[in-house]
Amino acid sequence: MQNISSIYQNSSRPIVDRVDDLLNRMTLAEKIGQMTQAEKNSIPPEDVKNYYLGSVLSGGGGVPEVNTPETWREMVQSYIRPSLETRLAIPAIYGVDAVHGHNNVIDATIFPHNIGLGASRDTDLVRRIVQATARTLLATNVHWNFSPAVSVPQDIRWGRTYEGYSEDTDIVIQMSQAYLEGLQNPDLGDVNMLGCAKHFVGDGGTTWGTTKIPQWTLEGNWQVPDDMFKIDQGDTQLDEDELRKIHIAPYITAIDGGVRSVMVSHSMWNGVKMHAHKYLVTDVLKGEMGFTGFVVSDWMSINQISEDYYTCVVKAINAGIDMNMVPYDYKLFIQTLTKAVDAGDVTLERIDDAVRRILTVKFELGLFEQPYTHEQWLDYIGADDHRDLAREAAQKTATLLKNDNSALPLRSEQSILVAGQAADDIGLACGGWTISWQGMVGAITKGTTLLDGIRQHSENVTYSVDGSADERANVAVVVIAEDPYAEGIGDRPDLNITDEQKQLIRTTRTNCDKLVLVIYSGRPLIIADVLDDCDAVVAAWLPGSEASALADNLYGDVLFTAKLSYTWVESMEQLPRKNSGSAKWQVGHGLSL
Ligand code: GLC
Repeated sequence: MQNISSIYQNSSRPIVDRVDDLLNRMTLAEKIGQMTQAEKNSIPPEDVKNYYLGSVLSGGGGVPEVNTPETWREMVQSYIRPSLETRLAIPAIYGVDAVHGHNNVIDATIFPHNIGLGASRDTDLVRRIVQATARTLLATNVHWNFSPAVSVPQDIRWGRTYEGYSEDTDIVIQMSQAYLEGLQNPDLGDVNMLGCAKHFVGDGGTTWGTTKIPQWTLEGNWQVPDDMFKIDQGDTQLDEDELRKIHIAPYITAIDGGVRSVMVSHSMWNGVKMHAHKYLVTDVLKGEMGFTGFVVSDWMSINQISEDYYTCVVKAINAGIDMNMVPYDYKLFIQTLTKAVDAGDVTLERIDDAVRRILTVKFELGLFEQPYTHEQWLDYIGADDHRDLAREAAQKTATLLKNDNSALPLRSEQSILVAGQAADDIGLACGGWTISWQGMVGAITKGTTLLDGIRQHSENVTYSVDGSADERANVAVVVIAEDPYAEGIGDRPDLNITDEQKQLIRTTRTNCDKLVLVIYSGRPLIIADVLDDCDAVVAAWLPGSEASALADNLYGDVLFTAKLSYTWVESMEQLPRKNSGSAKWQVGHGLSL
């Protein structure tokens, strides 16, 4: 039976008193345990108790063997329960990347990725999406979402471009503020979500070809393939003024908006690893900007600081990292940090500052009073109103770039040829961070496709994966897509669409009077070679699990309202952003219909 007379367990006491009381009761082992986050496949639940762990996460695709909302809830609670059995019963907090819905859970609703939301400029839409997402997260007892990315991507060859709202800082600020308002107010009584502004700082400002992932951090003899990780985790080569104006600014508004965790970037600033950057993490973020939440590392990123792990730990914690996303060898981290404190290389004052920040946030979230959420909230997952919201979002993110010869709106009496695998593929419409880390092609989760939607509008529909047809159609809708990717796996040296995609468009062109091109992509793609073959072009970005909704735009039942939040370049010479002034379709371009 817990001693409820203790100050820290008395919810009527001020949080600052509860933290002081609890901190004074904690051993060094309990304190360092709070600073340790392990990924769920690397830790047996009982070790959450044995090592007093503060947090467990699911990395992209870190799913239960049988992936359902119910098993997700059981899995998460299996890590929270042992934390409550420790001497001081400090609840562990579970974190995931729910960057476009509770995207690791099969049959959860998948919303458009941020690049589309940026094009919508609709802050109310974003607020409603993330409130819905928060409810599904809390239904599975997940209280921490590693989101929003407040990245400001400046070179769209980056595989994380689609996680950013825009290349324009002001749009990122506008949308991420709305995100945090929705995430931190799920309107579920006094149960709250922890958001995480990431990745601090300059993750979207790196220079192509500067990525240096040290071989000693790679598992086994895995070598980074030549065409991957070329800009992700690279070096942001800017002076401080530019860094502040472009990349730090969104953190200022995120802090004003109440964000209570910040994740450090894998990248570097002028050659120095962000995970070892005391000036930016402690002096600027915590000091000058007054951030009083806690700072979490990115996945195993402290290991990149030095070949000597002791040095990694000392430099990262002294730089101001409060919790280490280890994520595998949590015992080694705990041993190493303990050794560093015993040796005086990390002061007890630094440890106490980190733990104070973590505990403060846990008290704010109400975790001590309500570590377990209500099972009936599971009904939120995949609910009809969420799917309707995802339909609305797909429609408000689709950006009409070109519409000649009145190709759009389509008319239901027209004969229509639908071409391309992507027209009937949920996985391609969702993109990365869906069910698995990299995303997948195919019917990977519950949802609807654009072909489904067109079939709702017309009875004279022919579907052809390669664009071939026996009869000429009045109009064709060709859908091309980037294969799903995440992070540096998606770094892409050439943004021209592929020869196969060009061939698909040209084949289809011969079988129709008018041709509408719909693009599923995590960034603008270069379509100059086929633009004249297309009467209309729609950038649908990564619309999510309800892509059938786009048919309403094509048939004019819903207006196109979105505007580009990234410059649509016509050649590789127009990259990075600073070189794209001559591009025909700039930020703000978007036809309305
Ligand atoms: C990854 C990403 C980060 C994510 C984390 C946990 O490395 O950089 O955005 O939150 O790991 O999945």
